[in-house]
Amino acid sequence: MINPVYSPAPERYNSGMKYRRCGKSGILLPEISLGLWHNFGDVNPFANSQAMAHYAFDQGITHFDLANNYGPSFGSAEETFGLIMKKSFMPYRDELFISTKAGHEMWPGPYGNWGSRKSLINSLDQSLKRMHLEYVDIFYSHRYDPDTPLEETLQALVDIVRQGKALYVGLSKYPVEKATLAYRYLEERDVHCLLYQGKYNLFHREPEKQGILQQAKDNGTGFIAFSPLAQGLLTNRYLNGIPENSRMAHNNFLKKESLTNETLERIKALNELAAQRGQTLAEMALAWLLKDELVTSVIIGASSVTQLSDNLKAIENTTFTSAELEKIEYIIGQ
Ligand SMILES: NC(=O)c1ccc[n+]([C@@H]2O[C@H](COP(=O)([O-])OP(=O)(O)OC[C@H]3O[C@@H](n4cnc5c(N)ncnc54)[C@H](OP(=O)(O)O)[C@@H]3O)[C@@H](O)[C@H]2O)c1
Repeated sequence: MINPVYSPAPERYNSGMKYRRCGKSGILLPEISLGLWHNFGDVNPFANSQAMAHYAFDQGITHFDLANNYGPSFGSAEETFGLIMKKSFMPYRDELFISTKAGHEMWPGPYGNWGSRKSLINSLDQSLKRMHLEYVDIFYSHRYDPDTPLEETLQALVDIVRQGKALYVGLSKYPVEKATLAYRYLEERDVHCLLYQGKYNLFHREPEKQGILQQAKDNGTGFIAFSPLAQGLLTNRYLNGIPENSRMAHNNFLKKESLTNETLERIKALNELAAQRGQTLAEMALAWLLKDELVTSVIIGASSVTQLSDNLKAIENTTFTSAELEKIEYIIGQ
């Protein structure tokens, strides 16, 4: 059957999605954003990827997070998204906030990885072609490159903005002291760093401990959390074993060894607490990240519309009693 022409839900901005200001900027981001790291590659059924993208936008998710090498294969998540742009989203381009990144392995040879000017600029040109876009809303340096002068990477970001290929720039996974230098370098060139993207979830608290969250706030930069569900650990996915179609079953990015008995006990205890709050564990894990203003948005991954719809319920209750917060710390610290 020929796909019917997509028209987004007319109520997409009245469906409960909330938007937060991104640092000291004019940009508002949805509290929940959708990441295309997994489940949007050329190994995945296009119909499912498309259904998730449509559902997300219909629910007010305006921010889609990509990177050059998301797939597998490398580049194929951007191709999938490009096809969705062509088939459905193009008339709504101005309602969308689309990101991509460069800095991890992408193409063979010395220029397809890390943070040189050549790598970043060539990579973004490729990404734009794959996604059928003239510009991205935000382009990230995907990771700090210890072997390239930081100024070279940052100047490439500045020039990308000047060339109109990205409206804003961001940093991902930069150590705190390099982020300090980067924020200053960019600011001095009138290119404010819009977002810091870091791994943050109930099990992974480094952004808090290392002061990344506070540093972003002080710089007027938003913080966007990736892997907010610890790749699925902070959901009911692994409560009763490892399902065949799960990320852990592939044992690639989420290793089976990470599901130790201690971790499983913590997941079970968190799951009980979530139930007492009237939430699923996934909802509670996301709500916990959104409980205060230090986090602008969380970028979730999903393998089905059902997961997405569960996760979206998180925003209905993001307040915690101090007893609940203490209980969470107790469970995690055990
Ligand atoms: N900057 C960086 O270096 C970086 C690194 C990693 C990720 N990211 C970004 O962050 C995004 C999210 O990362 P992530 O995919 O690791 O996020 P995540 O939200 O922590 O994990 C997503 C996975 O959790 C499972 N899941 C989600 N909702 C569920 C639910 N309601 N019930 C049961 N299971 C559920 C699904 O696993 P199954 O597939 O098993 O169903 C899903 O694929 C990426 O797409 C990417 O955009 C950025």
